[in-house]
Amino acid sequence: MEAALYHRQYGFYSTGGSAGRRGDFITSPEIGPLFGHVVANALDTEWERLGQPGVFTVVDFGAGPGTLARSIAAAAPRCAPSMRYIAVERSSGQRARHPSGVISVEFLSPELIGDGIVGVVIANELLDNLPFTPVVRVNGDLRFLEVSVDDDNALKALASSSSPEDDPFDVELEAAVLQRAAASWLRDMLGAVVAGRVLMIDYARTSSALVEVRTYASHGRAGDPLVDLGTKDITVDVDLEQLERSVVRATRIMSQASWLELHGLSRLVAEGRVLWEQGASTGSLEALKGRSRVREAEALTEAEGLGGFTVAEWTVGSFDFL
Ligand SMILES: C[S@@+](CC[C@H](N)C(=O)[O-])C[C@H]1O[C@@H](n2cnc3c(N)ncnc32)[C@H](O)[C@@H]1O
Repeated sequence: MEAALYHRQYGFYSTGGSAGRRGDFITSPEIGPLFGHVVANALDTEWERLGQPGVFTVVDFGAGPGTLARSIAAAAPRCAPSMRYIAVERSSGQRARHPSGVISVEFLSPELIGDGIVGVVIANELLDNLPFTPVVRVNGDLRFLEVSVDDDNALKALASSSSPEDDPFDVELEAAVLQRAAASWLRDMLGAVVAGRVLMIDYARTSSALVEVRTYASHGRAGDPLVDLGTKDITVDVDLEQLERSVVRATRIMSQASWLELHGLSRLVAEGRVLWEQGASTGSLEALKGRSRVREAEALTEAEGLGGFTVAEWTVGSFDFL
């Protein structure tokens, strides 16, 4: 009880009992093949911009079961013959589901990076999964929020006496989260890529926004993070301002809906409509796929759902244009 109260006091705790703004429980690639098709378009644009390199590396970081890889392959982008697709996934169960033709690994090793990656690193819903450290402000000082066990064997969170060495916030926050793992991931990726870009797709927030720690289990919200420890995913929106202060500012930041639009979503949906209109009476597979595109596009661009995701891109190498 005390733990929950403590969370609430600092604005950390979120039951998610109401619909909330994150009503989506599946990721964009899992909605259907459309997302991967648009990503394939974006990869072609980057491949062209880089001068059509003979080896064009795509690193899908936190690849899950490899659904994005499958959709990209199905879209048959122009860059496919040059593409070296590396699916990095720490879960062996998920890696076992990766399609053939991709390099499926637990870590992005120095051997895979070689002299540096020419291509794109893409992380869809990875950074909000990385560990973070809650901190609270006590009498002006930032303090770690520590979890301990009380007399009734319940977990409780209390401000500790120790403070983090860095204070990457330029606002007076009561409660915040240090996202050092996300920052070090970004630093590593920007170090690994010699020409191309690093792309993060996730829910993002500003440093001054109230921190909401969300938990998920079985495709639903899962309540207090300190109850039934180890049974739920614990996530927090990515603080892009903090990443900027700790690493570097993104070259371009936009909503997922805008990014998909930039890379040809409307055209693919219009093609889908035509396929459906032409084949609706026969119910052919092509017609059904066409109709599905229309529905997928709605799910991918809905402002309160996946469309409200943020796409942050960091370009590496010299570019005359984005
Ligand atoms: C929310 S899922 C997203 C999966 C996929 N990108 C998608 O959009 O469907 C996050 C994935 O990242 C993986 N993951 C988390 N931390 C990781 C790490 N440090 N290295 C590699 N994979 C990681 C998890 O195992 C999980 O499969």
